[in-house]
Amino acid sequence: VTKIILDCDPGYDDAVALLLAAGDPRIELLAVTTVAGNQSIEKVTGNARRILRAVGREDIPVAAGAIRPLVRGGAAFCPEIHGESGLDGTTLPEATTPVDPRAAAQLIVDTVMREPEGTVTLVPTGPLTNIALAARLEPRIVGRVKEVVLMGGGCKIGNVKPFAEFNIEFDPEAAYVVFNEAWKVTMVGLDLTYQARADEAVRARARAIATKPGQLLADILDAFARNYKKKSHFDAPPVHDPCAVAAVIDRSIVKCVPVPIDVELRGALTYGMTVADFRRPAPEGCRTFAAVELDQPRFWDMVIEAVERIGDP
Ligand code: BDR
Ligand code: CA
Repeated sequence: VTKIILDCDPGYDDAVALLLAAGDPRIELLAVTTVAGNQSIEKVTGNARRILRAVGREDIPVAAGAIRPLVRGGAAFCPEIHGESGLDGTTLPEATTPVDPRAAAQLIVDTVMREPEGTVTLVPTGPLTNIALAARLEPRIVGRVKEVVLMGGGCKIGNVKPFAEFNIEFDPEAAYVVFNEAWKVTMVGLDLTYQARADEAVRARARAIATKPGQLLADILDAFARNYKKKSHFDAPPVHDPCAVAAVIDRSIVKCVPVPIDVELRGALTYGMTVADFRRPAPEGCRTFAAVELDQPRFWDMVIEAVERIGDP
C-alpha cells in the first residue's frame, strides 16, 4: 500500500483522481490539499470536500492552499472546460466536516515529517504552487518523500499554449522549483494523458455502475466530454489526472523513461514549457522521468473497479 498526499484543483479529472485514490486498496490517502487552478481556491476546496463526503471518506483531512501563482500575474482559471463551479453538471452532497485549519503547504510538511522516511508519495494534479511552498517551508521533506508523481507538462506538446500545459503554465516558477529539487519527479504529462480518452464505451461502463459514486463518475465523464467537444478537437476527453494516481498504484501501467526535464521561465512563446532533453541517453542518476505510454485497457479497468469498490457509502 502506497501512502499519498493528493494536491489537486477539482475539476472533473481531479475528481476522477480522487475517486481512484479513494477506491483502490493499494492507496492510502493521507491528506488532500487544494490549489487554485481550474477554479478559485474556495470552489476547488469545496469540491474536494464534497467528493470525499460522497465516497464516505470525510476522515481524510483537507487543507486549502495557494490562491494564486508564486510570481506570475494574469493566470486564469478554466471555466470553459470545468464550468463555473469546477464540477458543473454533477450533484454532490454538502461536506459535513470542517476544512483543516492549516495551510496546504503546512499539512504537506506535517504529514511527510510525521510518516517514516521514504514512505510518502506526493501526487500533484494541479499547479505546483503548494508543493514548491512546502519544499521551501521545510527543506527536509525533499529527502523524506518517496517521490513526486505529477500530472503536468509534456515532452512535445502543450494545451493552453502550443508547448505549455495548463498546470505548469499556470505557475511556471513553482514548477521550476519542483523539477529542480533533489527528489525523484515523474512527469505524467500530455504525451501520456492524451492516451487516456473517455470514449463512449468507457462512459457506458461508468453509467452501468449502479451506485451514487458510479453515477458521479458517469456525470463527470459525460460533462467533461461535452465541454471538450465544444472547446477543442477532441471527440473523447483525455482524463489527465487519474493517470498520475494510476502510475503510483501500479507503475507497470505506464512506460517511464529517465530524461532531464526543466521548466522554461523566459521564453516569449514558451513560458511554462517543460523542456525534456532527449538528445542523448539520460545521465547516470537522472532523477526526472517522463511517462510516455499508457496501458489503456488496464487503466480504465482500474478506474472502474475502484469506483465499484467504493460501493454506496
Ligand atoms: C490539467 O489541467 C487541468 O485543467 C486538468 O485538471 C489537468 O490537471 C491538464 O492540462
Ligand atoms: Ca487538475
